[in-house]
Amino acid sequence: MEKEIMSDVKKYQKLEKLKKWRDEVQPIPWYFDGLENLCDRIHPEKQFLQVTDIKELSKDTKLFRFTSAKFNKPLAPFRAGQYIGLIVDINGVRTSRPFSLVSSPNQLAYYELGVKRKEIGFVSIYLLDKLKVGDILEATEPLGDLYYNRVFHGKDLVFIAGGSGITPFISMLRDITEQNLKLNVWLFFGCLTEDDILFREELEDIQRRRPNIKIHYILSEPGLGWDGACGFITKEKILDEIKSTEKKFFYIVGNRAMYSFIQEQLEELNISKSRIIFELFGVPDDVTEIIGWPKDITASKKVKITLDLIQQGKKVQETIEAPCVEPLLNSLEKEMNLGIIINSGCRSGACALCRTKLKSGKIFMLPEVKMREIDHEFGFIHPCVSYPLTDIEIEILN
Ligand SMILES: Cc1cc2nc3c(=O)[nH]c(=O)nc-3n(C[C@H](O)[C@H](O)[C@H](O)COP(=O)(O)OP(=O)(O)OC[C@H]3O[C@@H](n4cnc5c(N)ncnc54)[C@H](O)[C@@H]3O)c2cc1C
Ligand code: FES
Repeated sequence: MEKEIMSDVKKYQKLEKLKKWRDEVQPIPWYFDGLENLCDRIHPEKQFLQVTDIKELSKDTKLFRFTSAKFNKPLAPFRAGQYIGLIVDINGVRTSRPFSLVSSPNQLAYYELGVKRKEIGFVSIYLLDKLKVGDILEATEPLGDLYYNRVFHGKDLVFIAGGSGITPFISMLRDITEQNLKLNVWLFFGCLTEDDILFREELEDIQRRRPNIKIHYILSEPGLGWDGACGFITKEKILDEIKSTEKKFFYIVGNRAMYSFIQEQLEELNISKSRIIFELFGVPDDVTEIIGWPKDITASKKVKITLDLIQQGKKVQETIEAPCVEPLLNSLEKEMNLGIIINSGCRSGACALCRTKLKSGKIFMLPEVKMREIDHEFGFIHPCVSYPLTDIEIEILN
C-alpha cells in the first residue's frame, strides 16, 4: 500500500514538473480545448469599442461607428436585430443603455448604432453631444431575442417600426438583402415628418433591388408635398398591403405609445400573441400612467432603500432615499459613492443581467415584463424595470 502511494506521489511530482516546464515554454490554459476560446469569442464578458466615425442621420439622430479597441479581440458576432448595452460614465455615474446594432451581421470589422436624442434624457444626450472620434466605451456582448428564427417565423415577415425603432430592421434588411434570403418582407415605418425617415436612401435602394421587400412610410405630421400614407399604422393600412394575415410573423419596435396602439390593431386582426415579437425602447416617461400603478402613490413620493452590500470583503448595510417613480436601477447608479456595480443589458426586464434579491417591501414591475418562475420563487427582481412602492430592502452581493 505504502509503495503504491509513493508511486502516485512520484507520478504527481513528475506531472507538476512537466506542467511547470510547459508553462514556462508556452503558457497555455490547462483547460485549453478550443471551446473556451470559441465561447469567449461569441460571448465576451465585455467589449471595448472605439468610435471611428460619427454621421448625422437627422436633426436629432446620429450614426456611430465603432471598431474593437483591442487589436487581439475581434468584435463579437451577432444576429441581425440584436442590441448591445453601451456602458458610459457620465460625471461619475456609471450606467448603460441598450442600442440595436444597425450594421450588417455579415461583417464584423465594425458595429454601427443609430442613437436618437431623448428630450429629457441622459445617456442619449451625452452620446450625441459629447462622444467624439477616438473615444473608447465599454459594451456588453450582443443580446436580445428580436431576430429572424427560420424554424418558427416562416417566410412572410411584417416589420413595424416607429421612429428610431427602425434600427434593428436596418440590420435585418441588410442581412436579408446581402444573403438574398427568400423571404417576403413588408416594412411599415411610422415617422413624424419626411425629415424623420432615417436611412431613407438605403431603404429605397433595397426596395429597388429586392422586389420581395416592400417598404411603406406612414407620416403622422406630413408636410404639404407628401403624397404617401398619413396618420398612424392601422390594421386597415397593414391589411391593405399584406392582403392576408395567414402565416405572417410580426415584429414591432418603437416606443410604448406606438406599441400599445399596434398591439390593439393586431389583436383586432386576430393575430395570436405567439406570432408577434416586440421590443420597447426605454422605460415609460411617466410610470404613474401605466396600467396597474397604485393611484395613491404620487410622483413626488420617496421611499427608503436599505442595501445589503459587500464592501472591502465585509457585509455592510446602507440606506438611501429614492423616488417611487424612478427605476430602482437608476436610483442605485446615482449613488456613486457606494461603488455599486449592477450589470445591465436590456434595461427592459428581458435579459436578467440585473437580477437582484428583494428581501422585503413592495415594488411595481412594468406589466410587459415576464419574470422567470424561479426568480419569483426566490424573490429576485429586475431593478431596471422595478419601482419601489414602500421602503424596501435589497441584497447586492457582487
Ligand atoms: C432593446 C433596446 C434597443 C434600443 N435601441 C435603440 C436604438 O437603436 N436607438 C435609440 O436611439 N434608442 C434605442 N433604445 C433606447 C435607448 O436604450 C434609451 O432608452 C434612449 O436612448 C434614452 O436614454 P436616455 O438615457 O437618454 O433617457 P432615459 O433612459 O429616459 O434616461 C433618463 C433617466 O436617466 C436618469 N438620469 C437622469 N439624469 C441623471 C443623472 N444626473 N445621474 C444619474 N441618472 C440620471 C434618470 O433616472 C432619468 O429618468 C433601445 C432600447 C432598448 C430596450
Ligand atoms: S438589464 Fe436586462 S433585465 Fe435588467
